[in-house]
Amino acid sequence: MRMVDVIAKKRDGGKLTTEEINFFIKGYTAGDVPDYQASSLAMAIYFQDMDDQERADLTMAMVESGDQIDLSDIDGIKVDKHSTGGVGDTTTLVLAPLVAALDIPVAKMSGRGLGHTGGTIDKLEAVEGFHVEISDEEFVRLVNEDKIAVIGQTGNLTPADKKLYALRDVTGTVNSIPLIASSIMSKKIAAGSDAIVLDVKKGAGAFMKTDEDAEQLAHAMVKIGNNVGRRTMAIISDMSQPLGYAIGNALEVKEAIETLKGEGPEDLNELVLTLGSQMVVLGGGAETLDEARGKLQEVIDNGKALEKFRTFLENQGGNGDVVDDVSLLPQAAYEIEVPAKQSGVVSRMVADEIGIASMLLGAGRATKEDTIDLAVGLMLRKKVGDKAEEGESLVTIYSNREDVEDVKEKIYANIEIAEQAEAPKLIHTIITE
Ligand code: URA
Ligand code: CA
Repeated sequence: MRMVDVIAKKRDGGKLTTEEINFFIKGYTAGDVPDYQASSLAMAIYFQDMDDQERADLTMAMVESGDQIDLSDIDGIKVDKHSTGGVGDTTTLVLAPLVAALDIPVAKMSGRGLGHTGGTIDKLEAVEGFHVEISDEEFVRLVNEDKIAVIGQTGNLTPADKKLYALRDVTGTVNSIPLIASSIMSKKIAAGSDAIVLDVKKGAGAFMKTDEDAEQLAHAMVKIGNNVGRRTMAIISDMSQPLGYAIGNALEVKEAIETLKGEGPEDLNELVLTLGSQMVVLGGGAETLDEARGKLQEVIDNGKALEKFRTFLENQGGNGDVVDDVSLLPQAAYEIEVPAKQSGVVSRMVADEIGIASMLLGAGRATKEDTIDLAVGLMLRKKVGDKAEEGESLVTIYSNREDVEDVKEKIYANIEIAEQAEAPKLIHTIITE
């Protein structure tokens, strides 16, 4: 087989066979297929697309390019959740203990934050003592006993995707549905779960900016998952403004604790119940989404979800007392209000830019090497659709530096107040095929 023939076939709109896709991915991972041929094929795929079979084959070829996590020692159906990334997205912190409280195993591999999006591990490390450096054996034992554990990314997962994603980044071929869908799904499948719930974000803070793109991507990923034997569902949710009120590590842990008590922000609560219902159905804990939602509400109301969060934190070295006393979390030195300059209704809060404002305080990383300040961040006091009087606070800045003019400026530039505005719809579509 010659790579040039594979490229020409796709260029002309042909359908690649399983063998051809394996030949490309194996050769590219090994360094036998050079970057120029891989980028040429990526561009051909960008223009000619791939059918369902090709997408599934590409995904599995990338899964098989490296290690795969074996979760078979964990009892039950392991359900994973993946978000395509957002600002102030506190859902995993709430979802994991909430679903585990219904005895559905949550064996989660998580990452750290980069750019305007935060990472689950960074957030959890705001709890004194909490760590994800546990052995694989300990991880399996904790999930079997208490149904929940989180580890950092380990092993050499999907090296083909790492290489191809980096190449796409510099060759104008990131924005291709088959390439994005196979890239994301290969990582989820290699991470070992039996079933996958996807939260595809749409809007300024997200990768997909329009309804149509987000919907195509979600359908593509659900199809791939189901075609390769992992039951997969998806929702498309709004990321035009940040989720909830808190943005920043300790602030989001506090928000998660409030939400586990049933006292969280409306949008976060709704998103958690929607995603959680899908996880419970896929995990075999309920027959229908409605039944699942009822069960989730029950463990919020009776305190089991919050207790599960405490157990989880303590199991991994964290101080579980934070669930009773959030003042044990790292505290910033300064709280600075950002008052509205005019009266009206908040009409826009640009999610990614607000995420960058929080990063400027030290809550996030501009590069992988940066260290972060767990105490700092932003608390939104208003969201899109809320009335604001002149002088009323729009945002509280939690900072460890006194001068925050740069952050204020960024916030003012990215919040608009108009005469009228409505809150955006949170859940756009639910895909369960
Ligand atoms: N995120 C990924 O992991 N892969 C892509 O191709 C795009 C976004
Ligand atoms: Ca939040």
